[in-house]
Amino acid sequence: MARSRRRSRSRARTTVPYNIGLQMSSRWADELAFATDLARRAGTLLLDSYERLERIDYKSKRDVVTNADYASERLVIDAIKARHPGDAILAEESGEHAGVLRDDGSHNGRTWVIDPLDGTVNYANGIPFYCVSIGLVVDDVPSAGVIFDPARDDLYAATADGPATLDGGPIHASTKEALSDYVVSLAVIGRGGLARERKIAPLIRIHRRMGSAALALAYVANGRFDAFVQNGGLSPWDVAAAGLIAERAGAVVTDLRGSPWWNASVKGPPRANVVAAPSAQHAALLELLGSLKTTLQTRR
Ligand code: IPD
Ligand code: CA
Ligand code: CA
Repeated sequence: MARSRRRSRSRARTTVPYNIGLQMSSRWADELAFATDLARRAGTLLLDSYERLERIDYKSKRDVVTNADYASERLVIDAIKARHPGDAILAEESGEHAGVLRDDGSHNGRTWVIDPLDGTVNYANGIPFYCVSIGLVVDDVPSAGVIFDPARDDLYAATADGPATLDGGPIHASTKEALSDYVVSLAVIGRGGLARERKIAPLIRIHRRMGSAALALAYVANGRFDAFVQNGGLSPWDVAAAGLIAERAGAVVTDLRGSPWWNASVKGPPRANVVAAPSAQHAALLELLGSLKTTLQTRR
C-alpha cells in the first residue's frame, strides 16, 4: 500500500541544493545531484506558468505543446550544455543535440534524455498531474534518472547502482501478491485497446489512465501503482528516467514481449512500450496481454 505523504506546496518554489543521501556513493552521484537540481528548477518554472499559459499550439490533432514545454526544455538543455558540453542530449521538443567530440573525434557515450513536461494535456487543462523527466543514458544503459512532480513536490530518483528514492528516502515497489488487488496504470492503445482494457478490468482492482506516463511509471516505484502497462506510443524521454526508477525499486520492467524496456536504437514513431510490475505478477500480466493479442502500437 502506498504511504500517504502530505507536505506544503510552497516547498516546490524554493530551489535548494538537493541532498541525494542514499545515492551519494553512486558512480553517478554528481550527475544525479545535477539532474535533481535541474528538475526542480524546471518544475518551479512549470509551476509558475501553471494556469497562466501564454500559448497552446497543436502538434497534431491530439497533441498540444505550450510555451512552458519550450521554456522548461531550454532551461534544462542550457544547463547541460554548460556543465557537460561533451554529452549528447535527446529532448522531446528540439530533438538531438550532439555533444562536443573528444580530441580523437569520438563521443563520450553519454546522452541526457529529457521530457521537459510530461503530461502536457493535463498541464494545459489545469490538471495537476505532470512532471519533468531527466535521464542519463551511458553507453546505451539508463544510468541515472529523476522525475519531479512540482504539484506535489515529489522527487523520484535512482541510479543504476543505487536504490530508488522519493525525496531522498528509499522506496519499494508493491508487495501485493494477488493481481486482483492491483491498481494498474493501464493504457492499451490502438484499435481494440479499450475492449482489451475492459477484459483486464475484472481481473484487477481498478485501472487508471493518468495522462503522464513518466509520472505513472515512477509511481510503480513506491506502490502508488502496483503496475504500469502501455503497449506503445511512448518515446525514449517518457521512459528513460521512470523505467530506471521503477526497476531500482524492485519492479520487473520489460517491454510487451518481456524483452528489455530500454532500446536506444529505435527511431521513428513512438514505439517504446512498457510492462512494469512486481515479480509476483509481471509474468502473469505479460501472459494476460498476450492472451488478448495485445500488440505494439505507435498511435494513441
Ligand atoms: C504523453 C503522456 C501520455 C502518454 C503519451 C505521451 P506528453 O507525453 O506521457 O500519458 O500516453 O504516450 O506521449 O506529450 O504529455 O509529454
Ligand atoms: Ca511525454
Ligand atoms: Ca512532453
